[in-house]
Amino acid sequence: MSNGKKILVSVAWPYANGDLHVGHLAGAYLPADIFARYHRLVGNDVLMVSGSDTHGTPVNLAADQEGVSPRELFERYHHRFLESQREIGISYNLFTHTDTPNHHRVSQDMFLALLNNGYLYKESQQQFYSETLGRFLPDRYVEGVCPFCGYEEARGDQCDNCGKILDALDLGNPRTKIDGSVPVIRETEHFFIDLAKLQPFVEAYLEDNKEDWRPAVLKFSRNYVKGGLKGRPITRDIDWGIPVPVPGYEDKRLYVWFEAVIGYLSASIEEAALRGDPESWKAWWYEPAAETYYFIGKDNIVFHTVMWPAELIGVENLYAQDPDQRLNLPTDVPANEFMNLAGAQFSKSRGHMISLPDLLSRYDADAIRYYVTVVMPETSDSDFFWDDFVQRNNGELVAVWGNLAHRVLSFTHRHFGEVPEPGELSEVDVELLERSKAAFETVGEHLRARRFRSGLGEALALAREANRYLEVKSPWTQIKADRAAAATSLYVVLQAINALKVLLAPFLPFSSQALHSSLGYEQPLFGAQRIETIESEGRTHKALRYDDSQAGGQWTFETLPSGRALQKPEPLFKKLDDSVVEEELARLEA
Ligand code: MF3
Ligand code: ZN
Repeated sequence: MSNGKKILVSVAWPYANGDLHVGHLAGAYLPADIFARYHRLVGNDVLMVSGSDTHGTPVNLAADQEGVSPRELFERYHHRFLESQREIGISYNLFTHTDTPNHHRVSQDMFLALLNNGYLYKESQQQFYSETLGRFLPDRYVEGVCPFCGYEEARGDQCDNCGKILDALDLGNPRTKIDGSVPVIRETEHFFIDLAKLQPFVEAYLEDNKEDWRPAVLKFSRNYVKGGLKGRPITRDIDWGIPVPVPGYEDKRLYVWFEAVIGYLSASIEEAALRGDPESWKAWWYEPAAETYYFIGKDNIVFHTVMWPAELIGVENLYAQDPDQRLNLPTDVPANEFMNLAGAQFSKSRGHMISLPDLLSRYDADAIRYYVTVVMPETSDSDFFWDDFVQRNNGELVAVWGNLAHRVLSFTHRHFGEVPEPGELSEVDVELLERSKAAFETVGEHLRARRFRSGLGEALALAREANRYLEVKSPWTQIKADRAAAATSLYVVLQAINALKVLLAPFLPFSSQALHSSLGYEQPLFGAQRIETIESEGRTHKALRYDDSQAGGQWTFETLPSGRALQKPEPLFKKLDDSVVEEELARLEA
């Protein structure tokens, strides 16, 4: 572990009720991974955590529909999440799930701390009850007309059309999702989090030092709080979930949104135990100099900019050594907008989606990562178009970057077998070297500021520059008349390629690693990702982990020494045939 800055990279916890899709990747996982890899190369201490959200009605509902237990359902998808995220290279220090004894305990501890600190109260509430099913109905089990926008199929918890968070009781014309029957209203007692009491603290947090937040995220959050916060129930009448640690509440469970966000903390604690240094998580959560980032989609904003800060504030000095210590509130929540698929919203239920396992069965991880970064919905909704995917792959990734590296490496390998000795450098030579050095600052600046598209654009601009240099120099012609001149050109362009390898590594870790090896480096750029079986407190679960003990990549211009032996390179990327577009569109139709 290095002595750099502590950077916590928190990533949205996917509901384990269906495969991950490109929307998840574009919304949260890929930007988080690029950010984490950049900071690791810089030498900072990154802790990147997430896991499967195993509770809540989305999981319950899917299990009911399949006729299996929620546990059987979530474990199946959790294992698929581990595989596809390892394959696409999302480098979590820990990707766990919310049904571990550790997460249960941390969630209950937070509940009790809020209770003891006077931020919870009990209140009777009206809730839909199904007489045909003989049980209370979670908000998501009820559908009806959205009171805000009039959308007819709004879910009881949140409207898919306008995005507003709803109270199921406010729906017009309510019906039960399971059997279509009309529910009745019954009284039930629950614990509420006293958001009105926490409001001034949350408001102060949202005022303080938010210059580099995305304007849309900040505005949305501030408006939400300005409207006045009301208490929200954090227990539910369901049997799948975390028990409420209070006598008399045996039939109720913690509300999924209350405990899922706690996963960021519990996963950090679990990771610390796994690394054999159980207190180490505190460096990210209690040291004021640590920075904490939450990568999520825009439908989750208030849960991360209002609810989660309220919980963190309310538990006060939970687990702290020093009674005055306070848990760190999010430094930034760089929420992304949505990525649509060929003009329409991704939808699991309507089958309008591209799942990650499916995509990975046909395309290389870096080809997917490249395109998804290029169209990442950072400031507005964007689209995944298949023709655009093929064009960008062939016209940019392959033509601008892959061919540059491949041509130069194979030519140098063939004629010199090693990095050649340069002669005296001319102005053009020095210019390309200077630009390569400067790119570490320009690309780095974008990445630190969570502007991933611009960061990639800057790196690619350097590759274009290197291509122009090659055109001017044309070492393939030079070699016939003046071997020394060719040696100088190849030496210079190899330096730019070596720099690009690092500049592109956060985006394209697999191809950068392949190139790194061809350039004769033995130590890998990044650590290794592994799926592990973890036994703890009498239970077993699988998790994705990251071991950086061998990693040697550095975010800095490093000169490739003359005389360094070169390996015969393989092409970094594959050109895609135009027929891919039609095949994929046909697949979407089917
Ligand atoms: N599982 C929820 C969703 O996919 C919540 C994700 S973020 C969390 O929308 F941290 F709150 F879990
Ligand atoms: Zn609506």
